[in-house]
Amino acid sequence: MQRTISKTPKAINKVISIPGDKSVSHRSIMFGAIAKGLTEVSNFLTGEDCICTMKAFQALGVNIKESGDKVLIEGKGFGALKAPEQEIYLGNSGTGMRLLTGLFAGLGFKTILTGDKSLSGRPMNRVIQPLTTMGACINSQDGKAPLVINPKNQTPNLHGIHYQSPIASAQVKSSILLAGLNADGITSVSEPEKSRDHTERMLKYFGAELYIEDLTISLNGPNSKNSLMGQKINIPSDISSAAFFLVAGAILENAELRLSKVGINPTRTGVLDALKLMNVQFSLENIDEAGAEPIADILISSSEIKGALINGDLIPRLIDEIPVLAILASQASGTTTISDAEELRVKESDRVYTTINLLKALGIEVQEKPDGMIIQGQNKKPFNPSKTPWQDLNEHSYYVSDDKIVFDSHGDHRLAMSAAIAGLYSTKPIEIHQVEFVNTSFPSFFEILQSFE
Ligand code: S3P
Repeated sequence: MQRTISKTPKAINKVISIPGDKSVSHRSIMFGAIAKGLTEVSNFLTGEDCICTMKAFQALGVNIKESGDKVLIEGKGFGALKAPEQEIYLGNSGTGMRLLTGLFAGLGFKTILTGDKSLSGRPMNRVIQPLTTMGACINSQDGKAPLVINPKNQTPNLHGIHYQSPIASAQVKSSILLAGLNADGITSVSEPEKSRDHTERMLKYFGAELYIEDLTISLNGPNSKNSLMGQKINIPSDISSAAFFLVAGAILENAELRLSKVGINPTRTGVLDALKLMNVQFSLENIDEAGAEPIADILISSSEIKGALINGDLIPRLIDEIPVLAILASQASGTTTISDAEELRVKESDRVYTTINLLKALGIEVQEKPDGMIIQGQNKKPFNPSKTPWQDLNEHSYYVSDDKIVFDSHGDHRLAMSAAIAGLYSTKPIEIHQVEFVNTSFPSFFEILQSFE
C-alpha cells in the first residue's frame, strides 16, 4: 500500500490526541493475564503489535475482552494458562516475541512463536542465550524466529541467574525478569545504561517485590509471581508516536501543537532532551500520573533548530525516535552527529541504512557511520531534492523524479511516518510505499495528518 503526502499546512494550531503507549500496552496484557483478578485497561493501543500480544494470551485460554481502547482481562495466574492449539503469531513485534519467550520459558507446555518477515530476521539469541542459562529449552534456526519453547514440566525448574547484559535493552531485561518469575531463587539483570523501565514499574504496580539498585534489578521468583494482582491501568499516550508531531510542530511555520497526556517516564524522554539540545521551543503542562507512569501535555511551536551531538546514555532513551529526529536535524543550522546507536541496525529495518536513504531522497547531505550518521542541516528550507535516475525500489529505497519523491519504508512503520512528516515540508509530493506497517504502532496517524490544513 502507498500514500502520497503533498500538503504544506499554512498554519496549525491544534490539540492532538496520541494513542496509548506501545510498550505499556503490551505489558498491560501480559501482566493482567498472569496476575490474579480483573485488570481493566483504558487508552490501550489497538495497533497490530499489541493485538498480537492480546491474541497470544487468548490462545492460552485467558478471557480478554476488547472494546475500542478499553480492555478487560480476567487473570487467573500462571497456573491457569493452557497449551495453545496453534503456533502463536506475533506479527512485526520484537517486544511481543522477546518478552513472551521469557514469560513462556518456564511453562509446562510447548509454545511456538512466529512473526512476519521483518521479525523473522531479527536477532533472538540476545534472549535465547541467557534464558538457556536459566535452564530453558528453546530451539531456533540461527537464533531467529520461529522459536520453539519446550515445556518445563520436569525438575529442575528454571533457576535464577545474574545476567550482565552487554546492551541497554528493555526487551532483554524484561524477558529475563519475566522468566525469573518462574525460576527458583533470585534472578537479576544489570544493564550498561538504563533502558525503559515499564516492566519494573508495572510489576511493582501489580504487587511484585522488586529490588532496584542503580542499573541492577532483582526479583525472587516464586514470591514475586504469587503476589501479582489485577489492577486498573490508564495507559499514557506514546511519546514515540508523539515525536512525529513534535518534529512537525518544530519544523513547520506558524505551528502550535498541544499533545495531551503523553508519557514522560524519564527512561523515555531522551527525545525531549534532544529537542532542548537542538533549541526547539516546547513546554510541559498538567503534569500528572497514569498508573505507574508520569504524564504531561507537551506544547510545541515552530522553532529555529540547531544541530547537536546525540550520543551516549541518551541513545537508549530515544532509540525509536532517531528516524524522525533525523528529519528535525536536516532542518537545523549546522551538523547533527548521532553516535553509539548501533542498535538501530537491528530494529524493524536497518534504521541507519533506511534513515540515511530517506534523508538522501529528501536531498540532504548525510554520512553513514557504523553506529549512526552525520547530518548536514539545511537551516529551515522546504525539502527540494534534485532528480535522480529511476531505481528499482526492491533494490533501493528511493528515487526522485521531476514531480515527486518516491520512498520505500522497507516495511518499517517509523520510517513511513518520518517520511510523511517530511512530506509536510517539501516542494515535491512524497509517495511512500509499504505504509500499511504504520498500523503496527499508530493506526490513527494518517487521520491526524489529514486534519492539518
Ligand atoms: C521496547 C524496547 C526497545 C524499543 C522497542 C520497545 C520495549 O527495544 O526499541 O520499540 O517495549 O521493551 P530494545 O529493548 O531492543 O532496545
